[in-house]
Amino acid sequence: MKTMHDDILQVLLTEEELSKRVEEIAADIRRDFAGKNPLFIGVLRGSFIFMADLVRKVDIPCTLDFMATSSYGKSTVSSGTIKVTKDISADIEGRHVIIVEDILDSGNTMAFLIDLLNAKKPASVHTCTLLDKPERRQADVTADYSGFVVPDAFVVGYGLDYADNYRTLPYIGILKPEVYENE
Ligand code: IMP
Ligand code: MG
Repeated sequence: MKTMHDDILQVLLTEEELSKRVEEIAADIRRDFAGKNPLFIGVLRGSFIFMADLVRKVDIPCTLDFMATSSYGKSTVSSGTIKVTKDISADIEGRHVIIVEDILDSGNTMAFLIDLLNAKKPASVHTCTLLDKPERRQADVTADYSGFVVPDAFVVGYGLDYADNYRTLPYIGILKPEVYENE
């Protein structure tokens, strides 16, 4: 029987590497936000596993919320137009907000979210991304906390998907191009 692993060209980041790096980012956030009761806003659905691991390792009083945006659909290239498909429920006025993303690619999603959240008068907005593909950047945005720089290839696993699949892989891998090239 074919498994998810058969569609992976190369494992880029192992479970151990991810865990170690998430611990390091968590230590930085703990140092910077201790006593500030930050509000983590996870961008669904790609960030859910990273967010879950991160907030447990940060281990300071904080609250959580989630948003969902869409721009990709069943494609590996950003459409550039971003829509909020699920908004936050929390009142963020006066709060220290940390946006948690799976990957910073064109940067259009993050730039859009920063503007959107800043308009609601938070005390601060910071950004945290597990992965960064700087080669593909269009918007002028860099993350305050970033896990790994990755090459310009389509990656899946640890929450990241292609057409909603592969999110449950425990590692991050490069998807075989033939999986999406014929669609
Ligand atoms: P951006 O707006 O182009 O920065 O794209 C951000 C979103 O695109 C991320 O939150 C991901 O959901 C998705 N994305 C970008 N590159 C990849 C990838 O290599 N694999 C899976 N999802 C990706
Ligand atoms: Mg996605």
